[in-house]
Amino acid sequence: MPRYRHAVTVRTVRQVFPTDSGAVDIDPVDLVHDEVRQTDGTRPWVLMNMISSADGATTLDGASGGLGGEADRRLLGTLRGLADVILVGASTVRAENYRAPRTPDDRVGVLRATSGRPPRPRLAVVSASLALDPTALMFRPVGPADPPPLIYTATGAPGSARDSLSGVAEVVDAGTGSQVDVGLVVADLAGRGAGVVLAEGGPSLNHQLVAAGLVDELNLTISPLLVGGTAKRILSGPTLAAPAGLRLDRVLSDDGYLFCRYLLG
Ligand SMILES: NC(=O)c1ccc[n+]([C@@H]2O[C@H](COP(=O)([O-])OP(=O)(O)OC[C@H]3O[C@@H](n4cnc5c(N)ncnc54)[C@H](OP(=O)(O)O)[C@@H]3O)[C@@H](O)[C@H]2O)c1
Repeated sequence: MPRYRHAVTVRTVRQVFPTDSGAVDIDPVDLVHDEVRQTDGTRPWVLMNMISSADGATTLDGASGGLGGEADRRLLGTLRGLADVILVGASTVRAENYRAPRTPDDRVGVLRATSGRPPRPRLAVVSASLALDPTALMFRPVGPADPPPLIYTATGAPGSARDSLSGVAEVVDAGTGSQVDVGLVVADLAGRGAGVVLAEGGPSLNHQLVAAGLVDELNLTISPLLVGGTAKRILSGPTLAAPAGLRLDRVLSDDGYLFCRYLLG
């Protein structure tokens, strides 16, 4: 039974796994917000969210948007609503023209407010080059009290780029030379009080997070499309030292899309 009742449209999706309680039409907001996301307390829960075509492509014409549908966008909004921080690689920010996170729709926003969290998650970007346009949409705060995006970089980042971003972002060194250490990034986010980090890609950053054993959950949307081509899979990088096992936790379906939640570790 939903805990909050507001004058907003509730769009249900079908739960197809597990089926022990019978396949039911549910509002993902209730489901996602009731799921437990707790680590041992030393670092935040890291939730990776990606969409791929049925043949594994993560982009169509260079971006992920063409793979998605309405239910996927709603689920992404719901997942964003439970995040303290959205972590993303700079190539994704550039390819997808990232904006500052918006206020989640009404019910998700209410859930945030009642749990004492800020209205919107904070954006955190990983970049060695700092090749980010300081006038880009991601640097335009939605609310006057919003903290600026975090930019995690390494000591070798160009000074001129640091200077140009210093007024619109908090630039943090988390590695030496040109290599950001994702372990330091997650540790820094823990120190800032982040409880849930939503890792939105791209595949290169995903690979590093998984290789470092820092991912607790994968939310994978499988789009009902075959696209061919050479687009990256959800992890891009060398074969992992050992495959990361996944436990299927639940599957939702809407309009041919599958929304799979896996747990790692
Ligand atoms: N299907 C989906 O759900 C989905 C989700 C996200 C993205 N995408 C797509 O994926 C593509 C981008 O993914 P990608 O794998 O190419 O790139 P990415 O992971 O988004 O970003 C890679 C960039 O992030 C920075 N970076 C990452 N790790 C770093 C490290 N350890 N040290 C320093 N810098 C680091 C570097 O930025 P600098 O170049 O600035 O140094 C690097 O070039 C886009 O086409 C996007 O549309 C799809």
